[in-house]
Amino acid sequence: MFDSYNRRINYLRISVTDRCNLRCTYCMPEEGVALLKHKDILSFEEIKEIVQVAVSYGIDKIRLTGGEPLVRKGILDLVKMISTIKGIKDFGMTTNGIFLEKMAMDLKSAGLHRINISLDTLDPEKYSSISRGGDIEAVFKGIEAAKKSGFSPIKINCVVQNSSSDQDAKEVKSFCENNGLQIRFIKLMNLEKGIFSIVEHGEGGNCTSCNRLRLTANGMIKPCLFSELEYNIRRLGIEKTFELAVGNKPACGTTNKTNQFSNIGG
Ligand code: 5AD
Ligand code: SF4
Repeated sequence: MFDSYNRRINYLRISVTDRCNLRCTYCMPEEGVALLKHKDILSFEEIKEIVQVAVSYGIDKIRLTGGEPLVRKGILDLVKMISTIKGIKDFGMTTNGIFLEKMAMDLKSAGLHRINISLDTLDPEKYSSISRGGDIEAVFKGIEAAKKSGFSPIKINCVVQNSSSDQDAKEVKSFCENNGLQIRFIKLMNLEKGIFSIVEHGEGGNCTSCNRLRLTANGMIKPCLFSELEYNIRRLGIEKTFELAVGNKPACGTTNKTNQFSNIGG
């Protein structure tokens, strides 16, 4: 699929839940967010059908996000269902890593190709304060488990206040170098104010080469993170929704006052 600016759209990010076991300060308010109702959340069958149609339209890269994808009940079944669809070249997940220790091996067996894990600091207290209560040891164990399960490469998403020369960023960087992990620095974004920038060592944030669409847990296809445009798949049907989302993908993002990271998965 090519959009009206001749960008080839081959990447679909799927938010499988708006729930999360953490409350990162830059992602969610402390009290949490109004959660979607069960009936509004796409079923695994619906997601599978959407992915099948997406692949027929030229999507060959899929990433599961959240909220936190590993809190979705039965997530391993969904991974299995997606991994058997022919035509997917790259199938990844972005997770906070807390549940990876127990799930990494099963995710690998279920057919997931790659894992990105969020880690903004090495300091246990700072980690707990950023994530409002998260245990950094669980993340370290999760990273180990992902390595043991054979995921490669494993990427670490590091949100930085300013740049990769922030002290925390430097420490996470050397941790990655010592542990055979790749690092991506993501500058703190603000959807409402339209503040975003290019991801260092990553491919996000660069509008001219943007290749992605997003599917929210309640079935909206969003052509751009920094735009309020969204198309309701249940109402419009899968084909029509993809055509509208690709056809109306903006040249460049502006602001998004109606969504939060927790429901679009970054
Ligand atoms: N700015 C930048 N990245 C964010 N994420 C969530 N909220 C923000 C934000 N405000 C990203 C982080 C995290 C992933 C799940 O979502 O990279 O690792
Ligand atoms: Fe959860 Fe990730 Fe948001 Fe943190 S950034 S609250 S781990 S979804």
